[in-house]
Amino acid sequence: MTDLVDTAQRASTVSLTGTGAAVRIEGLLKTFGSVAAVDHINLDIKAGEFFTLLGPSGCGKTTTLRMIGGLERPDAGKVTVGDDVVVSVSDRRFVQPDKRDMGMVFQSYALWPHMTVFENVAYPLKMRGLKKADIGDRVEESLRLVGLEGFSSRPSPLLSGGQQQRVALARALVYSPRVLLLDEPLSNLDAKLRVTMRQELKDLQSRVDVTMIYVTHDQTEALSLSDRIAIMNSGRVEQIGTPEQIYLHPATAFAQDFLGQTISIGGIVIEQGVVAVAGDQENQIHVTMDPSKMAVGDEVTVAIRPEQMLTYDTPPSGEGRNIVRLVVQEVTFVGDRYEYKGQIGDTEAVIPLPATKRYAVGETVYLEFPEAAAVVWPRGAQVADHID
Ligand SMILES: Nc1ncnc2c1ncn2[C@@H]1O[C@H](COP(=O)(O)OP(=O)(O)O)[C@@H](O)[C@H]1O
Ligand SMILES: [Mg+2]
Repeated sequence: MTDLVDTAQRASTVSLTGTGAAVRIEGLLKTFGSVAAVDHINLDIKAGEFFTLLGPSGCGKTTTLRMIGGLERPDAGKVTVGDDVVVSVSDRRFVQPDKRDMGMVFQSYALWPHMTVFENVAYPLKMRGLKKADIGDRVEESLRLVGLEGFSSRPSPLLSGGQQQRVALARALVYSPRVLLLDEPLSNLDAKLRVTMRQELKDLQSRVDVTMIYVTHDQTEALSLSDRIAIMNSGRVEQIGTPEQIYLHPATAFAQDFLGQTISIGGIVIEQGVVAVAGDQENQIHVTMDPSKMAVGDEVTVAIRPEQMLTYDTPPSGEGRNIVRLVVQEVTFVGDRYEYKGQIGDTEAVIPLPATKRYAVGETVYLEFPEAAAVVWPRGAQVADHID
């Protein structure tokens, strides 16, 4: 497989580099029956940005993308691309998808099976009435961009999944769109190819000036590809930020739980800044809490990222340290680490630890939650349903 970086450095006759446009979404609403699939969302996506909609299945990502692309009509709201309003319900304005200057790539490739690679990529240009000579150059350049030089005459069904997805990408890029919409484009690829294609997408974005709006439920893809991420939940946007901002400073329990792993334990506030572990009241930990949001007697969840937690075989000494006990009930080996399932007080938890040390069932692991790293959410704050 040709490396995209190499191919980009070769001389080319046509430049497919367009100009990425900013995309503004205001009050976008779409209901199906009584369900708001997309519930009045607002997004300000910058020109040339790699922007990701991340959330669990059914949270409204695809519907949002389809409304941006014009495949779905919103019930309310407005989408502006650059200076052009492409849809505005209140102004009764709706620009057809092929007039929006956007490329689209879907999970299912959607290539024409009876066409060659060349014909598939040329199709959007033919539709736009380009001259034959111009079409040829642009198609070849687009195929070069995705590392498929020399594949022009190949019938598209004779390509691997990864190659088919490259053709879909080439077809979306061939008319230098201002915006590229990608809906879970790597989901149908096997795990190894997914990692390769992820890197290539990132490289591609740095060379083609296009705004990318990317939909995924995969947190690793979102973290590694995005300039910014919007975490979606039940048709709404929970948080927008860079991967680091959301990972390190999640705004909601859902955002914390969906992006990255968390270890959460139940507790009750016994005084401001002190939480007793549910089911083990003697075990108390100190946390930083907002007194306007939490009061004595409130049930809370204390959450921490696994890598911010310290572990010990024996109880560490020292005053005022946040130590909780986990008694190991089940050990799972997952290659680079073990996952230990057990109880912390009443709460069942799964703790990933490096495979350099193995605890046995029945052993106690002492976990330290440094106060600065522990986050407290009101109990019942919605957490994410993981789908892996
Ligand atoms: N054409 C449709 N008719 C009815 N319900 C739909 C339709 N498309 C999507 N939905 C519903 O809207 C919600 C959001 O769907 P979708 O945007 O596909 O979510 P995601 O892409 O995040 O998985 C889901 O509850 C889904 O069942
Ligand atoms: Mg979807």
